[in-house]
Amino acid sequence: MKQTDLRHPVVVGLQYGDEGKGKITDVLARQADWVIRFNGGNNAGHTLWLNGRKLVTHSVPSGVLSSHTKNFIGAGCVVDPLALKTELAELSQAGAALTPERLRIDARAHLILPLHRALDAAREAGTHGVGSTKRGIGPTYTTKTDRTGIRVGMLFDKDVAERVEFLCRTYNPLLAAAGVPESSVKENMQAIELAQALLRGRISTEITPFYDVAKKEKCVLEGAQGILLDIDHGTFPYVTSSNTLPCYAAVGTPFPSSKLGALIGVAKAYLTRVGHGPFATELNDETGERIRQKGGEFGATTGRPRRVGWLNADELKTAVQLSDCSHVIMTKADVLLGEKEVFALINGKLESFAGWSSMLEGEILHPRFEAFASQIEEYIGAPIVAVGTGPDRKEIHWRHPIADFWAL
Ligand code: IMP
Repeated sequence: MKQTDLRHPVVVGLQYGDEGKGKITDVLARQADWVIRFNGGNNAGHTLWLNGRKLVTHSVPSGVLSSHTKNFIGAGCVVDPLALKTELAELSQAGAALTPERLRIDARAHLILPLHRALDAAREAGTHGVGSTKRGIGPTYTTKTDRTGIRVGMLFDKDVAERVEFLCRTYNPLLAAAGVPESSVKENMQAIELAQALLRGRISTEITPFYDVAKKEKCVLEGAQGILLDIDHGTFPYVTSSNTLPCYAAVGTPFPSSKLGALIGVAKAYLTRVGHGPFATELNDETGERIRQKGGEFGATTGRPRRVGWLNADELKTAVQLSDCSHVIMTKADVLLGEKEVFALINGKLESFAGWSSMLEGEILHPRFEAFASQIEEYIGAPIVAVGTGPDRKEIHWRHPIADFWAL
């Protein structure tokens, strides 16, 4: 294969985030030259194990584990300098220091400032909360579309202080109306100064950073959250504030669209959701609690217990169609081990499946799990190419092995 024929995989969640995308992203990241984030910010949480130590990354892409992989935070992302500083310090302590060459941030990404966090918290405390992560993500996208927000590339502009003052003047009245303390220009300027020190040397000012790179280096595009949380196509208003569809990788990086390859959607064998919003298959009973405990379904970012329920294959089918994903990976099917009966919502009806007592029988998947997976894949209209069979990173069974992810 000629280098110019490289096509780059995009990994996205097909549900409400927390599908276990990390497992597949890690496999790909180890073979990649670049791992790119194209949406969201530190509302995401990705658990990594490094030298026996548990680390949770939020803003930094998943290429941190292999020392040859470079990481890129794309133009469609939002970055909190304070949170990023902590994350980089933790990575450094764990032996994965990210030099400026290994972590580039697009100049067009927007900065999350203390004002944005205060606005998020105030909205959540009122009657119109969505159960956000309170990281200031929504308000930062608000000030982006309002054109009052501050881009990473504006950090060293002469008028940055004046911009911060204008931003505070424009949005502080919302805090006052909510009866909470205003966010001072001083604390926001402190965040700006911190960002100047932290991001200097890491800012990418190229307009088309991957136009040539995509012809010769292997990239993985890593989506945050999940398709059903997409600002336009998810369960509005209970959604995040960015686009989570894989085609958005082209916009949010920016990445040459014709160089996007496999669109890999990751879905759990059951369903979880954090925050408010509809949940047709939710289990508010012992079964739900058992799955929550067994699956460790507590937020990686906020620690909140996740809402748990059966797989909603109707929503999954919609997510497959919205994302147009070419490959599906089903994770955490082992969490359901021991359940006598497993359910999935298909065509509006809760269908029952006989539970599986092990994931594998020798080299092949347990026939009862295989029956479940085959029916789901047929219904959603996309092949389930791999299945997570246990918590370890290596516990992944390929139903349809893929020799080269960059040749798809
Ligand atoms: P925000 O993204 O913090 O504004 O939160 C909006 C909604 O998206 C809330 O329901 C959050 O719980 C949810 N959310 C945001 N990021 C994630 C994630 O990485 N995993 C799961 N849910 C998320």
